[in-house]
Amino acid sequence: MGACRRSSVWDSYGDAMKAIVVVGTQWGDEGKGKVVDYLSKGASAVARYQGGNNAGHTVVVHGKKYKLHFIPSGVVRGKLCVLGNGMAIEPRALLGEISMLEKAGLNPKLVIDWKAHVITQEELDEDSKDSKIGTTKKGIGPCYRDKVARRGLRIIDLLDRKKLEKKTRLWKEYYEAGKKLEKYFGDASLRLQQLGSVLIEGAQGTMLDIDHGTYPFVTSSNTVAGGACTGLGIGPKSIKRVVGIAKAYTTRVGNGPFPTELDNAAGKRLRVQGNEYGTTTGRPRRCGWFDAVVVRYAARVSGLTEIALTKLDVLDGFKKVKVCVAYRKGEKVVKEMPPELGGWKPVYIEMPGWESSRVKGYASLPKEAKAYVRKIEQLAGVPVRLVSIGPGREETFRKK
Ligand code: GDP
Ligand code: IMO
Ligand code: MG
Repeated sequence: MGACRRSSVWDSYGDAMKAIVVVGTQWGDEGKGKVVDYLSKGASAVARYQGGNNAGHTVVVHGKKYKLHFIPSGVVRGKLCVLGNGMAIEPRALLGEISMLEKAGLNPKLVIDWKAHVITQEELDEDSKDSKIGTTKKGIGPCYRDKVARRGLRIIDLLDRKKLEKKTRLWKEYYEAGKKLEKYFGDASLRLQQLGSVLIEGAQGTMLDIDHGTYPFVTSSNTVAGGACTGLGIGPKSIKRVVGIAKAYTTRVGNGPFPTELDNAAGKRLRVQGNEYGTTTGRPRRCGWFDAVVVRYAARVSGLTEIALTKLDVLDGFKKVKVCVAYRKGEKVVKEMPPELGGWKPVYIEMPGWESSRVKGYASLPKEAKAYVRKIEQLAGVPVRLVSIGPGREETFRKK
């Protein structure tokens, strides 16, 4: 009997492969790693479909912290981890992550799709010169550009010395890395099809999507739920639920518009209480109030079935909390996402704050915190099913 049969999350969908997709609804760092770890309990595998080590996903279990970049967060529960064709992979960095996890006592079970693209040293060098976007400098943009220009290098090519020689001056290092990784190479789409229940882990967030985000201040892949189909080779009918991860406020790293950004004491307080420093680059994150226009937009473009609301505890102790419900530019007010965010100012509602959300269950939350959660549901048009009040696995409430 497969592990999936023991979990109610997957039960109602019969025997064919069924997937739950988890996506970021804001500008990344919403707590996807934490929620994926929580939801992966009954899954047979956890899969990534886009991005690479620009992602930094944190899982905290019994006080032990794991920072994941390429490998899906299901690795902490010992799940089969699938790196899909839509990913951009730097093989030396991936080997480093595998060995870090082995040292931490985990034994990653991996499938790396042989059609995933390789980030070369030349692409890394190029990205290291970026100053406009504020990228993570992991070579992501140049790698996806070369993929679309039909001159990229794929994982399977790591085993082909002649191809490698033409693509990177460090071809020997890449060849050696490929030889070490070869045992994991395979057909992700086929493997997933043979499994019952697959949890799919998005990286970055909706507003960083190459099509739907704040272009050009975006990453170079489709972060929205639709990307899971092309980035893993699965059909849309296998996706049963789409869980949007939303932080109880908003953060952004890197450049680009951010209407609810707070350049004041409240913003600083969010950064300090939320420990808002990048998992991948250590950069301080820009912080601001919750933007319901952004999350409602994420609900639409990914077809969210539910929201997991994280970091509610970070708002503890604020006398008042604000939520952006529309944008204003001069006389004009809009409630839906405009094609460009630059120059739009937030229109806020204000709600009473609460002392502490550090309680044992959803029912015990202060009434003001529950009212805040209900307001988010109402504005986003999607129910909140999980509420997170701390980084640990156990600090998660189910909300009926
Ligand atoms: P991801 O990229 O979406 O996986 O998010 P990151 O791991 O980059 O950033 C989220 C940070 O918040 C991590 O340090 C988590 O351990 C932490 N975190 C997640 N959920 C909560 C929560 O509910 N409360 C608090 N205080 N921290 C949380
Ligand atoms: P996770 O998965 C937050 C941002 C960068 C930059 C832009 C483009 O941890 O949520 P890139 O290196 O992708 O070309 O950079 O996207 N960015 C992220 N911001 N969380 C992430 O990942 C991010 N990955 C990329 O800061 O603004
Ligand atoms: Mg992150």
